[in-house]
Amino acid sequence: MITGKFITFEGGEGAGKSTQARLLAERLRAAGHHVVETREPGGTKRGEEIREFLLSGAAKDFGPMGEAVLFCAARDHHVKELIRPALTRGDWVVCDRFSDSTAAYQGAAGGVKPALIRALERVSVADTVPDLTLILDVPPEAGLRRAAERNGEGDIAPDRFEGMDLRFHEALRACFLQIAEQAPQRCVVIDAQQAEAAVAEDVWEAVVDRLNP
Ligand code: TYD
Repeated sequence: MITGKFITFEGGEGAGKSTQARLLAERLRAAGHHVVETREPGGTKRGEEIREFLLSGAAKDFGPMGEAVLFCAARDHHVKELIRPALTRGDWVVCDRFSDSTAAYQGAAGGVKPALIRALERVSVADTVPDLTLILDVPPEAGLRRAAERNGEGDIAPDRFEGMDLRFHEALRACFLQIAEQAPQRCVVIDAQQAEAAVAEDVWEAVVDRLNP
């Protein structure tokens, strides 16, 4: 039986998801919970290998459909090996990106048909639907600027999707907002243009309100 709670962070590039996921995990631990922090693509050894393949751009020739299948292969493994066992133990799982990212990046922005995205989701997610999804919303121009600054500090090249044009990133944002509108019981949209501490407060408020940690 599942007794843990599953929280995902979603949003476009440079929205601060990774930082907020870490801050939330710390706060949940301080409240006495066991927390598993993870990310997609990745989370397992095999998943991290698929991540490297996808984000380096090596899989680009497969096209959005082939990439969607690869993201879902990694997700299937992640759910079975890490997420479901943790939730069964009663842990809280905080995941940086999950299946809404496939709907946005490969679906809405990449052009893979919704029916196919749904079919892949049925296979890889099944009933391991997040209890709460925090959508960090930021205008694409601001997010891409932040992502570029972060890459500059670490001398990192933009990954496969950061390098896409503005229209792609606008389609992502619209898709995440639409998902939130269609699944209000699962999703909360957070204004990620605010300062980091203010975003963290909104995140915490949503978690307290929805999941009573
Ligand atoms: P990540 O490091 O999470 O990016 P960021 O820190 O910029 O949010 O890298 C994941 C990248 O993979 C990101 O560009 C989104 C993309 N992605 C998909 O295209 N589909 C998916 O299903 C997932 C999980 C991620």
